[in-house]
Amino acid sequence: MNILTFDSDSKLNEAAAGIIIGTVQTTPRAVLGLATGGTPVGIYKEVVREYDRGMISFRNAISFNLDEYVNIPSDHPESYHSYMNQHLFSHIDLPAAQCHIPDGNAADPDAECRRFDALIEQAGQIDLQLLGLGHNGHIGFNEPAHALIRGTHVVELAEETREANARFFDSIDEVPKQALTMGVGTILKAKKIMLVVKGADKADIVARALQGPITTDCPASLLQTHPHLIVLLDAPAASKL
Ligand code: GLP
Repeated sequence: MNILTFDSDSKLNEAAAGIIIGTVQTTPRAVLGLATGGTPVGIYKEVVREYDRGMISFRNAISFNLDEYVNIPSDHPESYHSYMNQHLFSHIDLPAAQCHIPDGNAADPDAECRRFDALIEQAGQIDLQLLGLGHNGHIGFNEPAHALIRGTHVVELAEETREANARFFDSIDEVPKQALTMGVGTILKAKKIMLVVKGADKADIVARALQGPITTDCPASLLQTHPHLIVLLDAPAASKL
């Protein structure tokens, strides 16, 4: 595992964007695993800046998002469909047909999970998976549990996850109770994983995830087993390592 610590948010965002761009530039048909949440916003902004400077084209890339809430309209401002359009997709030349996000409104969610997994399978291996980290150690929406599920599945969101994400909604009652998430098996199959964590409030979970026991109680701890894990931290998030 390669851990990099940054003393400024802009340097961290530039480094993370550089890794995404480098992957797309050097891989003929790059398969990107993308994340949402507060953490990647500045990274996507930096990717878009480089795109605007003519440094990169995403025409031949393909993307898979980690997760989506169940039962909020995809045009709801807080759906991950809206998030990705707002922060990345509407700004770059990645063709819409090559951007995949699980459909949280599918009539048959299990069938939707199987469809999503089949698309990933068809694309081959994910070349670079971007990940944020939940306060309870979740990755994607894989919450702490006795056992983790390999493929895409429906998950009940932990109360602390709903509380953490309530900041994006008018009230906690509006935060969906379920989501579709890529499974840990799929995440770990990516060729390279880039975990990005910011903020002192995540210092404890960063230490548990990277240096604690490997346990399904902290899904991110499974990343310790990955041969190509790069971790980008700001100084507060790294303060307990
Ligand atoms: C969210 C997402 C995750 C994200 C994590 C941390 O709920 N499902 O993919 O990495 O929680 O989010 P944030 O970056 O906003 O702290």
